[in-house]
Amino acid sequence: MWKEASPRTIYLKDYQPVPWVIRTVDLDFRLHEKGTRVISRLTLERNPAFTGQAAELRLDGEGLKPVWLRLDGSELHGDAYGIDDQGLVLFNPPEQFVLESEVELAPEKNTTLQGLYRSGSMFCTQCEAEGFRHITWYLDRPDVMARFKVRLEADRDKYPVLLSNGNPLERGELPDNRHYAEWEDPHPKPSYLFALVAGKLKYIEDSFETASGRPVRLRIYVEPENIDKCDHAMQSLIRSMRWDEEKYGREYDLDVFNIVAVNDFNMGAMENKGLNIFNSKYVLARPDTATDDDYLGIEAVIAHEYFHNWTGNRITCRDWFQLSLKEGFTVYRDQEFSSDMGARGIKRIDDVRMLRAHQFAEDDSPMAHPVRPASYMEINNFYTVTVYEKGAEVVRMQANLLGPELFRKATDIYFDRFDGQAVTTDDFVRCMEDASGRDLTQFRHWYDYAGTPELTVQGEYHPDEQVYRLQVRQSVPDTPGQKNKPPFHIPLVVGLLDSHGRDMPLDRSDGSARPELLEVMEKEQTFEFRNLPEAPVPSLLRGFSAPVKLNYPYSDAELVFLMAHDSDGFNRWDAGQELAQRVLLKLVEQAPEGADMLAEFTHAFHRALDAAHSDPALLSEVLSLPSESLLGERMEVVDVEGIHAAREQVKAHIGKRLHDDLLSHYRDLGEEGEYQVTPETIGRRRLKNLLLTYLTASGSREAVDLCVQQYQAGHNMTDVIHALTLVADGDHPARQELLDDFAARWHADPLVMDKWFSVQARSSRKDTLERVMALQEHPAFSITNPNKVRALIGSFAMGNPFCFHSADGKGYTFLVDKVLQLDGINPQIAARLLRSMARWRHYDKARRELARGQLERVAGQNGISRDVYEVASKSLQ
Ligand code: PHE
Ligand code: ZN
Repeated sequence: MWKEASPRTIYLKDYQPVPWVIRTVDLDFRLHEKGTRVISRLTLERNPAFTGQAAELRLDGEGLKPVWLRLDGSELHGDAYGIDDQGLVLFNPPEQFVLESEVELAPEKNTTLQGLYRSGSMFCTQCEAEGFRHITWYLDRPDVMARFKVRLEADRDKYPVLLSNGNPLERGELPDNRHYAEWEDPHPKPSYLFALVAGKLKYIEDSFETASGRPVRLRIYVEPENIDKCDHAMQSLIRSMRWDEEKYGREYDLDVFNIVAVNDFNMGAMENKGLNIFNSKYVLARPDTATDDDYLGIEAVIAHEYFHNWTGNRITCRDWFQLSLKEGFTVYRDQEFSSDMGARGIKRIDDVRMLRAHQFAEDDSPMAHPVRPASYMEINNFYTVTVYEKGAEVVRMQANLLGPELFRKATDIYFDRFDGQAVTTDDFVRCMEDASGRDLTQFRHWYDYAGTPELTVQGEYHPDEQVYRLQVRQSVPDTPGQKNKPPFHIPLVVGLLDSHGRDMPLDRSDGSARPELLEVMEKEQTFEFRNLPEAPVPSLLRGFSAPVKLNYPYSDAELVFLMAHDSDGFNRWDAGQELAQRVLLKLVEQAPEGADMLAEFTHAFHRALDAAHSDPALLSEVLSLPSESLLGERMEVVDVEGIHAAREQVKAHIGKRLHDDLLSHYRDLGEEGEYQVTPETIGRRRLKNLLLTYLTASGSREAVDLCVQQYQAGHNMTDVIHALTLVADGDHPARQELLDDFAARWHADPLVMDKWFSVQARSSRKDTLERVMALQEHPAFSITNPNKVRALIGSFAMGNPFCFHSADGKGYTFLVDKVLQLDGINPQIAARLLRSMARWRHYDKARRELARGQLERVAGQNGISRDVYEVASKSLQ
C-alpha cells in the first residue's frame, strides 16, 4: 500500500544493467495451510556487462518473513546486510558467492493474486511482472536469466499433483503423509516465468512429436468436475504447436508441456516456462456452457501463451518498458494463427473493431502512452490495449512493409541472434532492417509516441492527363507529455475503383513496384497514378493497413458504392460502418435529414440481407451497428442518452420495416444437428442472433416468443445466452422466470454464472444499478474473485455506458466505492476498474463535475495502492 505522498516514477532512460547476475537457483517449497516456507540457494557472480562502480547488491523482496540467511555457507552477520520493505541489501558481497535463505510466507492470506497464493483448494503462483519478490529474495527483473531447479512438498492427499517449470525429475514419499516432487528447467529464464502448482487435480493427456522428432507429453490439469471441458483447449494447443513450426520454424524445447486452469486469476493466462497457468475462462468449454466467442477466445489464448515460448521466454524483455517486444509480437502471432484456423476476413474486422473501441479511446485519454512507454509508476498498469493490440499492429505494419519472405527472414534473424537473451523493441526492428536493407528509423516513432495518427486525404482527377493525385496529410495529436510530434512512417494501402466497381490497374508515376502501398512519410505528400481513363473512387487503408483515423470526404453514395463493390472485404465492411455512423450521429443530433437517411440506410440493409450467396459471418458484421462507445468517440461531447436512443430507434425501425424478412432469414438459419465450432456454423449463429436482436427491437410479440423458444430449446450456450440477453434487456413477463431458471440450472458453475451476472449488468433497464448492487449479495458472487468482479462490476462500468454514465452520477459513486473496497484486496483489479473513468473529460459539464469529484475522492485517499494512485492522478491531470 502506498504510504508516502506519491509513488516514485521509473524511467526508461535510467536503465542500468545489474552489478551481479544469478546463474542458478535452487528452490525448496514446504507448502502448508499455515506457515509455508521457501528455502532458496542462489549462485551469484559479478555481471561482466556492468561497468559502473557498485559495492552493494540489492535484492528485491516484499512481505517476506526472514528465517535465516547464509553467504557461502556461513550465517550472515547483522552488519553485512540490511532488510527493508523493498528487499535485502548485501553491503559488500564477494565477486562470486552462494546466497542461501529461508523465508516464511502466508499464501492463504494473499488476496492480491500475485506471488504465491491459493485458488480454491490449490496453491499456485503468478510472478509476472514483479510477483517473484513476494516469494523469495531475488533480482526480480527480466534481464536476469538463471537456471531453476525446484523441489516442492505438501500433504499427499490434499495436493497429489505437484508441478513446476521444465522437466520432472524424481518424486517420493515423506513422513507425516507428505510427498515431494522435483523439477528442473534447463533453459535459463527470468523470475517472472517461474511457476508452481499444488492441488487435487485431474488431467487429460495427449502427445506431440516435434518436427525434429522430440516427443512431448501434453497435459491439461483442472479441478475434477471440469475434466469434460478440456478437449477444445488440447486441440488448440496441438494446432498451435504445429503452426509455429510451419510458419516460424519454432519447435518446442522440453519433454512436457503442462497447462493448469485456475478460477482466481488477474489476467487471461500466463506463459510460465513449460507450465502455463490459465484463467479457467480460457480453458474450459462444452457446447452447453461456452459460447462461440469463448471457444475462439480459448483457441487464441492457448496459442498466445504457447507462442510466448519463443517470443517471450527464449527471447525475453530487457526491462518492462519493452513489454510490447513480447506482447505485441505474440498478439500478432496469435491473430495470424486464428486467421489461418478460422475466417481471416472476419478475424480482421473483429480485431479492428476492438482496437478502435478500446485502444483509440485509450490513446485519446489521460492514460495514453506509447507502445514503448518512457515511464511508469506501477508496471501492472501497462498491460494495456496499447502495448498489446497497438503493439501487434506495429508488428503487422512491419510484416506488410517487408512482405512475407523478408519478414520470415527477419524473424529467423531475430530468433537466431537473440536466443537466450533479454532484448529491446529496437533490437527487433533492427532485425527487420537487416533482413530487408531498409531504414526504419522513422518507423520507430510508432514505438515512442502515443496518440492515434490522423490521415486526411483528398483526391483529384485530371482527365486531360489521365492522372489521379492523392494528397495525404498526417497529424499526430498531442498526448500527455508529448507535443508537436514528427511525422510517422505510415503504410497506406489503396485501390482505385472504376465506375463499375472494378479495381483499376495501378500505375504510379514514381514507378513504384508495389503501387498499392503508399508509404506516407511527410507531413504532406502527394501520390500520383497515371493512365486512368476515368475518375476513380478511392478505396483507402485497405485491410486497415495502419492503426490510424482516416478522413476522406466520401459522399453517402460513394460509401454505398464501396459497400457493394470494393474488392477489399475489410473496406466493404468499413464503408457500411461509416454510413451507419453518419445516420446514427444525425439521429443523435435530431437533424431533419435523419429520417431520410434512416430510410436509405434501411434500404441498403435490406439489399444486403437479401443478397444471394452472401457469407453469413460477413453479413453479420455488415449488419451490426457501431457500439455506443464508438459513437461517443465521434462526438465532441458524448450525448449518453441521445446515442442510446438513436441506436434503439434504428434497431426498432429496421426490426419493424423488415420484420417478416428478418423472420424468414432467422428461421432459415435455425440450428440443426450437433453443435460444431467451424467458421461456417459460427457465422450462421452470429447472423441468426443478430437478426433476433432486430426482431426483438421491433417489439413484436412473436419476436419475444422466439427469444423464449430459443432459450428453452437450449441447443448451445451461444443461442441460450443471446436469447437471455435480449429478454433481460426489456420488460418481458418471462424475464425473471428465465433469469431464475438459468441461475437454478448453473449455480454451481462459476464461469456460466459470470455470464448471468454480466447479462444483468449490461441491461439498459432503469433498475440496472440497483440490481448490480443487489447481486453483490448473491451467493455466487465474490469480491475477491476477479472474474466475478469483471462480470458484474466491470460489465456495468465498461459494457454499459448508458447506465454507468447516468446523469445522477450514481454509477461513478458506485464504481469508486468498489475501487476503494477492492484496493485493499487486489490493487491490480481495482486500478483496472478505475480506468473506466479516464475519459471523463469527454462528457458534459454536470457529469464532468461528478466524475472529477469521485476521482478526487480516490486520489485523496490515504494509503491507497500505487496501482490505483497512478490511474487516479493521471486521469485528473
Ligand atoms: N503475460 C501474460 C500474457 O499476455 C499476461 C499476464 C500479465 C498475466 C501479468 C498475468 C500477469 O500472456
Ligand atoms: Zn502475452
